[in-house]
Amino acid sequence: MTTRIGLIGAGRIGAMHAEHLAALADDGVDLIIADVDAARAAEVAEPLGAAAVADVDALFAEQPDGVVIAVGTGGHAPLILRAVEASIPVFCEKPVAETVEAALPVLEAVEAAGAQVQIGHQRRLDPGHCEARRAVQAGELGWLHTLRAITADMTPPPVEFLATSGGLFRDCSVHDFDTLQWITGRRIVEVCARGSNRGDPAIGAVGDVDTAHALVTLDDGTVATVSATRYNGAGHDVRLELQGSAASLQVGLDDSYAGRSAEAGAAFPAGPVHRTFHERFAAAYREEMRTFVAVVRGEQDSPCTPAEAVDASRVADAAQRALETGRTEPVRR
Ligand SMILES: NC(=O)c1ccc[n+]([C@@H]2O[C@H](COP(=O)([O-])OP(=O)(O)OC[C@H]3O[C@@H](n4cnc5c(N)ncnc54)[C@H](O)[C@@H]3O)[C@@H](O)[C@H]2O)c1
Repeated sequence: MTTRIGLIGAGRIGAMHAEHLAALADDGVDLIIADVDAARAAEVAEPLGAAAVADVDALFAEQPDGVVIAVGTGGHAPLILRAVEASIPVFCEKPVAETVEAALPVLEAVEAAGAQVQIGHQRRLDPGHCEARRAVQAGELGWLHTLRAITADMTPPPVEFLATSGGLFRDCSVHDFDTLQWITGRRIVEVCARGSNRGDPAIGAVGDVDTAHALVTLDDGTVATVSATRYNGAGHDVRLELQGSAASLQVGLDDSYAGRSAEAGAAFPAGPVHRTFHERFAAAYREEMRTFVAVVRGEQDSPCTPAEAVDASRVADAAQRALETGRTEPVRR
């Protein structure tokens, strides 16, 4: 069976998705790429043996079986709506839109059409996070008393990007908010937060923080911490520690852990560390595209619906408000 996938946006993450889709050629996947920068689309397509078209209109004219949207955040909502109107299943990078309000028409259209739309919360396809969800849902940890989520970049992205990212909680911790809810099956109901700026003053100048911590409460009363930083010199570090009455489990604690033990004679971790999210989630990103092709073929449902992704954005909004007001903020639903 040939499945024609149109990729829109061949930038940082789009080029990676293109590689993963091209690797599925033997499984019948044909790739067509478009970008506002047509030369960029051709540059990414050529070494992969994929087709490049002149622009987004030309890509939709090809009537692909599925569309992958990897343009900047402002372009997500209009392109999702366009694909849904054309009855084409969609994968779109997170977030659904620049704000929760801007995402609401997308949620309505997706629901009205009964469309299959997958949002790029790749941790849902990461083997460690999947194992944590299975163990929690099987009751192997007993009842959870403590959850600690960490997302730590080695170095900040360009300040021009930070100026439009919505802040550290919306850009990075939104993944932790999503996985906490997805793994536990509970909803986060309130957030308090603190942040700091001890790195490049330009980050504070655009209204963001380089490091932040949120204390979140789930709807069963469980409390979790969510930490993020742009300055983890030891390496890219994404971990989730789950402690329960019966057992504890940690996602991301392997020989690539970006730190060292202070204990004499400890050989762990053997290294090497991950340096970027591309490296940390290489398996998850590959699985994300394989899963989307299965969604397009009608073999499974979307593993992350726009409604679920927007719910994580609502938590991120509450965290950002908490950072700004200094108060505990409810998640507005
Ligand atoms: N899931 C994750 O872990 C993850 C990681 C990084 C980025 N992202 C998300 O991916 C998205 C893209 O990020 P990036 O870092 O790859 O950006 P980028 O700027 O590197 O790439 C965007 C590309 O899209 C093209 N483009 C922009 N608007 C377009 C339009 N309307 N039509 C066609 N092409 C268009 C640009 O020319 C560029 O080549 C962002 O929304 C970001 O939040 C997700």
